[in-house]
Amino acid sequence: MAQALRVGVAGLGTVGAALIAQIARQREALAARCGRGIEIVAVCARSKGKDRGIDLKKMKWFDDPVALAKSDGIDLFVELMGGSGNPAKAAVEAALSSGKAVVTANKALLAKHGVALAALAEKEGVALNYEAAVAAAIPIVRTLREGLAGNAVQRIYGILNGTCNYILTRMEQEKLAFADCLKDAQRLGYAEADPTFDVEGHDTAQKLSILASLAFGTKVDESAIYVEGISSIAPADLAAADELGYRVKLLGVAVKTPKGIEQRVHPTMVRKDSAIAQVMNVTNAVTIDAEGINPLTLIGPGAGGMATASSVLSDIADVARGLRVPPFGRPTARLTSVRKAPMQRHEGGYYIRLQARDKPGSAARIATRLAEQRISLESIVQRHPKEAPDSVVKGGSVPVILITYATTEDAVRKALAAVGRDRVISGRPQVIRIEKN
Ligand SMILES: NC(=O)c1ccc[n+]([C@@H]2O[C@H](COP(=O)([O-])OP(=O)(O)OC[C@H]3O[C@@H](n4cnc5c(N)ncnc54)[C@H](OP(=O)(O)O)[C@@H]3O)[C@@H](O)[C@H]2O)c1
Repeated sequence: MAQALRVGVAGLGTVGAALIAQIARQREALAARCGRGIEIVAVCARSKGKDRGIDLKKMKWFDDPVALAKSDGIDLFVELMGGSGNPAKAAVEAALSSGKAVVTANKALLAKHGVALAALAEKEGVALNYEAAVAAAIPIVRTLREGLAGNAVQRIYGILNGTCNYILTRMEQEKLAFADCLKDAQRLGYAEADPTFDVEGHDTAQKLSILASLAFGTKVDESAIYVEGISSIAPADLAAADELGYRVKLLGVAVKTPKGIEQRVHPTMVRKDSAIAQVMNVTNAVTIDAEGINPLTLIGPGAGGMATASSVLSDIADVARGLRVPPFGRPTARLTSVRKAPMQRHEGGYYIRLQARDKPGSAARIATRLAEQRISLESIVQRHPKEAPDSVVKGGSVPVILITYATTEDAVRKALAAVGRDRVISGRPQVIRIEKN
């Protein structure tokens, strides 16, 4: 059998510790599958004395991840520290520059420096693998890069943040407010103490920027993504969605349009009978619409030590086998720049919830303003104050829920601005985009 692949791992937290335990458990099967052994020969973390529940005795300890990355004693550097800056960036650069393959689970690093790192890997002729960086255990990077190498992707969309999906699931099933579900998510360890990065959609955007690059050959560029989070979603929206045959999910969507690649993250209404609508709690899912195979949906755990380590290990196995593909599926010189899609031009159906003042003519006025913008309605739900639950009758207004046929965001915004000026509604209208599926 060929010489074992010598691996150095920087970061021994949730993922790093799970990886080392899994390699120990799968040692023989891995050697059989890869035609050579996989040996972790060196490790690095901040605190040497910490009990991590894994046996590190046979591994050389490094205090400095960059020194480990450059070490002659390893063939492959695995970065599991996290963060878009140093030491992760410096260590990955050092490993690639010294001709070593790199495996990482670091979406933040790739979203910010992915193209430059891919160019460096290409120049040095080494692999840069990152299956775990998007949707942890779901093999979506390989599916796009290799499985669908011959298919033209039209659209890719996914539930890429378990925290948001958990919150929306609880809000829907238990009719709870956003703030209460967020508190529970924090208590259960699904949400950070500062949840902004997750609930305002930025984590989803980082992952989407990587998926869009793989699907459409664009340069990874998080700044080209329109981002809106879930903090404005109310239980009333989820109840109305349910009544109309929809569910609300935070989706990251990248789609080919005649005007270019549109990338967006926002709460989205999806039909209840679609595959993605079935995905509940912290589970992740990605649906791909590609020529000849649409839709293809992959569902699985989007976080957790073992789930993430499983993808990291599949990347390590590829290096052991000597497989190498361009990190984003094509040479970096062929990746194209992408501009932020102006959402005003977005076309699709819309859910609109208004609090109409309970006075004659309000509904007619709203209908007129929509008609002026050529917006046609698929459904309209208006409750008389006597039928509406107390919670939704506020200060002499009643909810009116509208589902539009495909229109533009510009038309919706203009119509709602006019409705606001007419003073026939109270409060701000709620608008949720509908994704066809
Ligand atoms: N956890 C998940 O479910 C998940 C899912 C998908 C992707 N990921 C990605 O996987 C990566 C690792 O995540 P994780 O959850 O395992 O993180 P974690 O539990 O916080 O572990 C981070 C590890 O990095 C070490 N570290 C941090 N700064 C360091 C430094 N300056 N020098 C040396 N070591 C340093 C820490 O050392 P100490 O232990 O000594 O403090 C720790 O062992 C991140 O990029 C994350 O985005 C995680």
